[in-house]
Amino acid sequence: MFMLLPDLAVDASLSADSAPLLLIDDLHFAYPDGRVALRGISLRVARGEKVALVGPNGAGKSTLLLHLNGILRGKGRIEIAGIPVNDRTLPQVRARVGLVFQNPDDQLFSPTVFEDVAFGPLHMGLAADEVRARVDRALAMVGMSAYHERHPYHLSMGEKKRVAIATVLAMEPEILALDEPSAGLDPRARRGLINLLRDLPLTMLVSTHDMALVQELFDRMVIMDEGRVVADGSVTTLLDDQALLEEHGLETPWKEREVRD
Ligand SMILES: Nc1ncnc2c1ncn2[C@@H]1O[C@H](COP(=O)(O)OP(=O)(O)O)[C@@H](O)[C@H]1O
Ligand SMILES: [Mg+2]
Repeated sequence: MFMLLPDLAVDASLSADSAPLLLIDDLHFAYPDGRVALRGISLRVARGEKVALVGPNGAGKSTLLLHLNGILRGKGRIEIAGIPVNDRTLPQVRARVGLVFQNPDDQLFSPTVFEDVAFGPLHMGLAADEVRARVDRALAMVGMSAYHERHPYHLSMGEKKRVAIATVLAMEPEILALDEPSAGLDPRARRGLINLLRDLPLTMLVSTHDMALVQELFDRMVIMDEGRVVADGSVTTLLDDQALLEEHGLETPWKEREVRD
């Protein structure tokens, strides 16, 4: 389990509004066992953009997302709102990047939903009133207002995913990084998630295999394969490129639908 504790001190002078909200430049990373997962990733995301990150299993999507708030530290440059990610800036970076793991059980660890969502704001040093207000707001945003006193462990997968998203929304991040948010959801929970993501006015980088979700929700799509960005462009254009999609193990949403029917 990862605990992301932003520090109390945030030095506003370090941020620069002119920079892209997320800047990644020539990022390389190998796991301790020697497996190379990222081979020179460069990516810029402007404030307000919602970007889908797709690619086959093992492409490096999760590894990349784990770099956004410094859980993993590769070689290369990452900046969040102009702030370079390094040991000194981790608290400021983590206050700005809301990272939601694929498995909500990695994110939820408290006896109640309230405590899980309050955890981040409490550790930001906010007053009790403000913490409660943030928890109420975050749970309302994900449609889980009636769940304050429930035990996260006993929720459905869809409910857990919503609470996991609320835990980062309560930190009021500038960028939301979601790792396969629709994986493991039934159709109704998935529909709820799509509506939620559509309505959230935040910059997003969302890794997913769900090409129907990509088509419905995103304008821009980045394709990764074998640790590299192999395409970065408009969803409409890239979903039209059958050869490109097939080369990287992706299917068009309508093709998936044909296979299912
Ligand atoms: N903890 C780890 N130790 C060693 N190799 C890992 C670890 N996690 C992932 N990998 C490897 O890193 C590569 C990228 O994995 P990952 O980022 O999980 O891809 P994706 O999320 O696109 O499926 C894969 O080759 C995977 O096997
Ligand atoms: Mg992954």
